[in-house]
Amino acid sequence: MTGGANGIGRALCQRFAAEGARVVVVADLDAERADLLAKEINGLAVTTDVSIEADVINLVKRATDAYGQIDLFCSNAGIGTPGGDDEPNDIWQRIWEVNLMAHIYAARHVLPGMLARGEGYILATASAAGLLTQIGSAPYSVTKHAAVAFAEWLAITHGDAGIKVSCLCPQGVNTDLLRRSAGGAGEFLRAGALEPEQVADAVVKGLDEERFLILPHSEVAEYFRRKATDYDRWLRGMRRLQANINSPTA
Ligand SMILES: NC(=O)c1ccc[n+]([C@@H]2O[C@H](COP(=O)([O-])OP(=O)(O)OC[C@H]3O[C@@H](n4cnc5c(N)ncnc54)[C@H](O)[C@@H]3O)[C@@H](O)[C@H]2O)c1
Repeated sequence: MTGGANGIGRALCQRFAAEGARVVVVADLDAERADLLAKEINGLAVTTDVSIEADVINLVKRATDAYGQIDLFCSNAGIGTPGGDDEPNDIWQRIWEVNLMAHIYAARHVLPGMLARGEGYILATASAAGLLTQIGSAPYSVTKHAAVAFAEWLAITHGDAGIKVSCLCPQGVNTDLLRRSAGGAGEFLRAGALEPEQVADAVVKGLDEERFLILPHSEVAEYFRRKATDYDRWLRGMRRLQANINSPTA
């Protein structure tokens, strides 16, 4: 579980342990919190920066050396940042590496073992922003769309070889990431936020049903359908929503 020390990842680690997973590997940048959680759930902590391919290679090796194989790899770590095209290149590059390249490194190093066995499960945490958009954040919208696209591609390319793929696309979830997000869009999402444990419920159900899209906020399916049915109308609606968020009394 990447990004396992906090927020959604932490709730998933706890839930998988409670559901009887043989072992849960908590991979996170935050070594201290990862260690604490690993002790609590009898798991293994591996300090990992998912944007560094060598770290992902090390994570896969540590897990397979210790437990033989990875049945489920949750590529969950992600970051947010506000802004648009005027954000500096290093901000764009960082979020691209964490929110997209990390999924590619994970697939590159976890898939060979899964393909050899003819089975394995990859869960990618993207976001409703990857199906719709994130008002006020181009880097988040773009990188989460890319994460959804990559998960789709994995499911199509490797589905017949026994590889299952699910893509988790929540709206607001009450975590530090959402609490840190400033401005009207953050407030808007906080208003309808779920708790990480509710997201874990949806994930357990979605994995059990082997569903590609896991939508803890069920209304996202309807928004996505509206977008596909009439893109221009959807864009007008999103502009109205943005105007309301930016000046709530208007
Ligand atoms: N909270 C929300 O509203 C929300 C909504 C939709 C999608 N998501 C996505 O869910 C995932 C988890 O988010 P969260 O809300 O739990 O965030 P969070 O900030 O609460 O937790 C994220 C964890 O990931 C770790 N992390 C960050 N960068 C890392 C890196 N480079 N390598 C390894 N670990 C790293 C952090 O240390 C932290 O423990 C992210 O992909 C996020 O984009 C969150």
